[in-house]
Amino acid sequence: MNAKIVALGGDGIGPEVMEEGLRVLSAVGEVAGLEFDVRNFKCGWQYFQDHTRLWEEGTFEACKEWADAILFGAVGWPGARPKTWGTYDGSVILDLRYGLELYANIRPVRLLPGVPIMLNKKQVEAWAPDDVDLVIVRENLEDLYFGAISTPYPTDMTDVQVDERTTSRKGSTRIIRFAFEEAIRRAGKAGRRKGHSSSVTCVDKSNAFPGCALFRDVFEKVAKEFKRMPTMKYYVDAFQLALLQDPARFDVVVTPNFIGDIVTDLAALLQGGLGMAPSANIGDKKALFEPVHGSAPDITGKGIANPTGMILSVGMMLGWLGQRSGDKRFTKASELVNSAVAEHYASPGPKTPDLGGKATTNEVAGAIIKLITH
Ligand code: NAI
Ligand code: MG
Repeated sequence: MNAKIVALGGDGIGPEVMEEGLRVLSAVGEVAGLEFDVRNFKCGWQYFQDHTRLWEEGTFEACKEWADAILFGAVGWPGARPKTWGTYDGSVILDLRYGLELYANIRPVRLLPGVPIMLNKKQVEAWAPDDVDLVIVRENLEDLYFGAISTPYPTDMTDVQVDERTTSRKGSTRIIRFAFEEAIRRAGKAGRRKGHSSSVTCVDKSNAFPGCALFRDVFEKVAKEFKRMPTMKYYVDAFQLALLQDPARFDVVVTPNFIGDIVTDLAALLQGGLGMAPSANIGDKKALFEPVHGSAPDITGKGIANPTGMILSVGMMLGWLGQRSGDKRFTKASELVNSAVAEHYASPGPKTPDLGGKATTNEVAGAIIKLITH
């Protein structure tokens, strides 16, 4: 056995895309000579409705003690949220992020040839698809979410709510260092697009909030440790405009938690929408990989969810396993997955309805698997 994986499908389309993600994992494993021990656990709000608990017994322990990595679908379902739980919606994912100290949230944003950009033609004419190739590194444990997880859900909602925002020097330092190291890793990678130069951009609202001012202060200090890496600094409002105007300007972008939540969905638009976007939650010991999208109740059960965000998350997981273990077979497997997805979209193959096609989840994953195994 080469790696132990906990698979948490969760709610809605989570299990639908998980099934295809695992199919890709075993297919690429066969090609690369890798075996995976996969344990599936049920969790989420739909599970809660029937079992009055959020996940099967032993799930968290398996993630913490047994797994090398965790693959996650999505959690959240309308009407199923129990009032006595935290103020937050997807507590399975927050419990994992906090319980396993997954402090870095990584979202690559890359537009593949053949994938439509979700902007109108006039907006897109200003730049070419090749321009979109960046990574957003979002702090994953502090900020407003720390307040949400530590404050009990108020039983008598009044008209006033105070949202606490927490920012620490330690938390900011480790995420900003991670971003600089990511920029160095990307600079060394073959196949980066021509004309893209390395940089790290700090995106915050330090002109208004002391927590963001601390974040920026840390950024300036860490930047001195990496003297040769070019840097940029933006307030988040101006950054949103710059990102849409000229995405080629950016390489690695680092943000506090809440700002990262918002800019990453905007960035997903530049890569073909939520169905295309993968992500990683990385700590010093463990990592969890998940598509950016949620449980999509509006399309659940129809078999038409785009599995690409999940498949690219499997690719990221394999890359991380390779980086951790030094075993080149994982790295090769990761490259196989990523290039099969790129090849799939560059050809007139099946596409799901979110990209204007008519294909099912299963057909798209099947076409990608064929490209991996051929
Ligand atoms: P969503 O991402 O589930 O859906 C937004 C829109 O995008 C919907 O129209 C949906 O059909 C579409 N979409 C999403 N993924 C798609 C895919 N793979 N293929 C094709 N179309 C796709 O976000 P929404 O509607 O805001 O949230 C629904 C539930 O999911 C909520 O309970 C929310 O809390 C939860 N959620 C969970 C997340 C997680 O587990 N990490 C992240 C975001 C939302
Ligand atoms: Mg979000």
